[in-house]
Amino acid sequence: MCGIVGFCGKNNCADLLIEGLKKLEYRGYDSAGIALEVKNKITVLKAVGQVKNLENLVKKSGKNSYIGIAHTRWATHGKPSLVNSHPHTDCTGNIALVHNGIIENYLELKNILIRKGHKFKSETDTEVIAHLLEEELKKEKDFFNAFQKTTRKLKGAFALVALSSKFPGVMVAAKRQSPLVAGISKKGFFLASDIPAFLSHTNKAIFFEDGDTIKITQDSIEVYDADFHKTTRKIHTISWDISAAEKGGFEHFMLKEIHDEPQNVKDTLQTLPPDITKAFGLPLKEAKRIEGLYIVACGTAYHAALVARYVIEHFAKIPVEVEMASEFKYRPIHFKKNWLFVAVSQSGETADTLAALKNAKAHGLKILSVCNVIGSAIVRESDYSVFTHCGPEISVASTKAFTCQLTVLYALALQLAYVQNSITKAEFEDLYQEFLNLPELLKQTLKLESAVKKVAKKVYKSPSFIFIGRNASFPLALEGALKLKEISYKHAEGFAAGEIKHGPIAIIDKGIPVVALAPKSSLYEKMISSCQEVSARGARVIFVTNTPSKNALEVPYTNEYLFPLLAATILQFYAYFIANFLGREIDKPRNLAKSVTVE
Ligand code: AGP
Repeated sequence: MCGIVGFCGKNNCADLLIEGLKKLEYRGYDSAGIALEVKNKITVLKAVGQVKNLENLVKKSGKNSYIGIAHTRWATHGKPSLVNSHPHTDCTGNIALVHNGIIENYLELKNILIRKGHKFKSETDTEVIAHLLEEELKKEKDFFNAFQKTTRKLKGAFALVALSSKFPGVMVAAKRQSPLVAGISKKGFFLASDIPAFLSHTNKAIFFEDGDTIKITQDSIEVYDADFHKTTRKIHTISWDISAAEKGGFEHFMLKEIHDEPQNVKDTLQTLPPDITKAFGLPLKEAKRIEGLYIVACGTAYHAALVARYVIEHFAKIPVEVEMASEFKYRPIHFKKNWLFVAVSQSGETADTLAALKNAKAHGLKILSVCNVIGSAIVRESDYSVFTHCGPEISVASTKAFTCQLTVLYALALQLAYVQNSITKAEFEDLYQEFLNLPELLKQTLKLESAVKKVAKKVYKSPSFIFIGRNASFPLALEGALKLKEISYKHAEGFAAGEIKHGPIAIIDKGIPVVALAPKSSLYEKMISSCQEVSARGARVIFVTNTPSKNALEVPYTNEYLFPLLAATILQFYAYFIANFLGREIDKPRNLAKSVTVE
């Protein structure tokens, strides 16, 4: 996610803006920039890498002002680079604008503007907004009215802040689905993506609503609702300290990131229209010709790949081979023609996955990567890339990225199935409709947090933890065990439920918690039998299902291939609370790195 900071007040603000960007560094970024209104001109300064680089640039420039905007970029469109970093300007350089979010219709708007003679410098969706505002100002004399009309033309999510040298002393902003808050201080008015940006100057904050547009001057702030009617928004007093504020008030980033999942899946779904070329870049002819998939990844991403195998084979009826990247390179793979190689990686920098990808590429395979970081090494080596739009994942234990990886791979399964006629148009539409409802279902699943916490409280002292599942829920059992191992340092293991009786049941002892993942399906009764087997040996069964059942953790009903996306949240809560009761260092567990860039 990008970070936005704006200020308009009585004194110089360059250092306030830089300080605000530093407080938003936890949101992750690859470049930063600032725009200051200096003597009725807009001065824009940008730097790739650390905010420190931008700070040095601003100091060296000697520029300062009572009004300015600043931005840290987390690339979603266009690789990390100076030209793609914000603020973006229009053709004249009179308008400067920063943005957090995804403009879905930016290409169509860009083509219209190019036909009107606008020249673009960057690959970003954001720059289109600056030129759109420039165009609007040819018709509308008032800056704020022109800005409001510009926002009406945008589809997608945005938090925007803009300045114009033609309208000195006015900062305008808009909020739709991306966060934007105002800080009301004695020095002046702040705008920011998140509270930490200004919390050291004021704890008085306004949280804007979707559709709000805002006009700020040195001594006034005006808010207009989605119908452009003037309104007022409550001024809240923030009681958090800085570190809590960075975590949105949650105790750990991991818990915050689990709660981010509905929004992250919504943002990811926005980039996955039901069209395989638009969503995945795969030309239709090529997509129809795919006879199989290799999916290669590590750790949690590997588990997402394993779930995807069941989903793709079920819907698209094509074979899928899933490999741990660290093993892939030792196998004498006889690569099959017309098979697509898929690399799944949150960081896009995992050395094992990159090595496997290069090996496949050397054998002539086309590469599709599913990553969370634009411009990462794995993305740069791929023919096609699709992104999980969950922003930077701070906690080492992957949660929201896993859920978004499953989202992308589920979309791939349905779209391959459709273009290869394994499902009818009607089936495809029904399944996609259910799929698009996922953010809502995830919100309902989050309500199980306290129920999971209660279960965790009962079992956290156990010496060992078991997870079982069948079909697409078997890899989820593996992921549940990994999540718990990573942050609790306790022994945890996942099994295919049908395998328990072939040996593992020997380790079942009195009180050992066994999480059983049992969606309503043709295998439900078999899962019940597996639960009876382990209960008979004294296990404490924790039943996770999507159908009414006594003493169960029940997530909303979906087809069994979507169940892992909801049950994953339960397992993430389960691991989180057990580790927390054990007093572990949750976000930075011992021995682990967020990205393993060595083989
Ligand atoms: C996940 O909780 C772990 N931190 C780890 O297994 C991770 O999934 C693995 O290292 C792969 O990382 P990547 O997705 O960035 O490639």
